[in-house]
Amino acid sequence: MRLAGKVAIVTGGGSGIGRGITLAMAREGADVAIPDIQVLNAEKVADEVKALGRRAVAMKTDVTSAADVKGMVDRTRDALGRIDILVNNAGAASAPGMPFTNNTEEDWDRTFAVNTKSVFLTSRAIAPYFIERRAGRIVNIASIAGPISALTMPPYSVAKMGVITFTRVVAKELAPYGVTVNAICPGVLYTAFWEKLAAHIAATNPAFAGMTPRQVFEKRVSDLVPMKREQTPEDIGWTAVFLASDEARNITGQALNVDGGVVMQ
Ligand SMILES: NC(=O)c1ccc[n+]([C@@H]2O[C@H](COP(=O)([O-])OP(=O)(O)OC[C@H]3O[C@@H](n4cnc5c(N)ncnc54)[C@H](O)[C@@H]3O)[C@@H](O)[C@H]2O)c1
Repeated sequence: MRLAGKVAIVTGGGSGIGRGITLAMAREGADVAIPDIQVLNAEKVADEVKALGRRAVAMKTDVTSAADVKGMVDRTRDALGRIDILVNNAGAASAPGMPFTNNTEEDWDRTFAVNTKSVFLTSRAIAPYFIERRAGRIVNIASIAGPISALTMPPYSVAKMGVITFTRVVAKELAPYGVTVNAICPGVLYTAFWEKLAAHIAATNPAFAGMTPRQVFEKRVSDLVPMKREQTPEDIGWTAVFLASDEARNITGQALNVDGGVVMQ
């Protein structure tokens, strides 16, 4: 029970990796707020948290809206009494498209809003509270797409590299207050995110013609991942638990790759 008595916010906790993080934290004793734009999914995960004997609150929140984010932080404190951990997990792919000259301005703006600006908004909303308490943990879900400069979705790769840089900036600024700020870079996970991407690749890339989304994904794992296996929401969940735990109190400003060895640095 490494998070007993703690309260966590997991944005986008209603599906995929966010659900994995939410359940891992609840299993370790945390109560969890689950802000998600798809509130019905968040409510289902809140029920799973309650079944584990923890408290949970689901709320409809758009993390690209400053007003929504402020309301979400206030509501979490009201409902659960305190906040110890913020996990910025909500995110979305950009439209798959190479070369980059095919990308649209709208897609760049949307991708930055949901993946990068959102992390600024939530961190800005919570920082004064963490500073006052001289404690707090922020865990940002970036992606190996940043460090490997993935070609498939240029706005997404750049937005996630921005998350890593912002993680380090905020880590430096909040270090004197005992607050740690780290990023996790997941590798390849078969969530709704990758299922959509794989379907697009099968439909548009002749090398993958006739393959199911799952087959496209498995080929990607086999081509890219030295350990030859996919990552899971549980892998990311346990890493987030570690970074939020007392054991990780001296780790800050890091971007931890959980990717079966794709990025080694
Ligand atoms: N799946 C992968 O292979 C992979 C790899 C690296 C990084 N990631 C990152 O992990 C995170 C989770 O992705 P996932 O694979 O679980 O995908 P997912 O699509 O299953 O989950 C994303 C969640 O974020 C929520 N969300 C999206 N936009 C939102 C908004 N504006 N406000 C609030 N909530 C919003 C969605 O409703 C959903 O619950 C994302 O940041 C993604 O970029 C995923």
